[in-house]
Amino acid sequence: MAKKVNIAILISGTGTNMQALVNACNSPNFPANVAVVVANKKQSLGLAWAKEQGLNSVLVDSAKFALQTNSRLAFEQELQNVLQSFAVELICLAGFMRLLTGWFIEQWQQKIINIHPSLLPNFKGANAVFDALQAKASLTGCTTHFVVEEMDAGPIILQKSVPISQNDNLESLKAKILQLEHQIYPETLKIVCNQILTKIK
Ligand code: GRF
Repeated sequence: MAKKVNIAILISGTGTNMQALVNACNSPNFPANVAVVVANKKQSLGLAWAKEQGLNSVLVDSAKFALQTNSRLAFEQELQNVLQSFAVELICLAGFMRLLTGWFIEQWQQKIINIHPSLLPNFKGANAVFDALQAKASLTGCTTHFVVEEMDAGPIILQKSVPISQNDNLESLKAKILQLEHQIYPETLKIVCNQILTKIK
């Protein structure tokens, strides 16, 4: 069987992008294999879904570390142990609402990808869809990119745009963008994994 890239999908919430990635990975010739799904919140609906699918799924509960000194590092060390134990080669952030430190990112250079609900570099941050509406932008969309230490600033991989109509509200616009996210994230994963596999050959 052809070599596939072992991926981890990191989530915090609903995990619809995770589902899109898992579905893509289920097709026989797709170049990635979901080694593990990791959530940092125990109430994550996506974690429950991953368990139901029989996927390896692990909770690394960020709340558990909150009171420790060096809580970020302690959380990331446990995360790193989990990723290593599943021989992960690429990390996909999919609604993972936690900033990663330079220490972590350095160990995964060019090996962490993310999806963001705006046309980066416009509307970085946690309220991208709201911010696009507030700014009365006529166009927004979604972006996949490699993760660097600065938030939402790494090299862009793919983007897809959607017009903002006068009737749009936060909910309708989020839904439109999410549909596009579910298209470009699997496409992105395929591109990145094929690049990794070409380098290995
Ligand atoms: C998506 O809009 C993604 O771009 C952002 O968080 C949201 C996650 O949604 N980073 P879901 O959990 O994948 O449904």
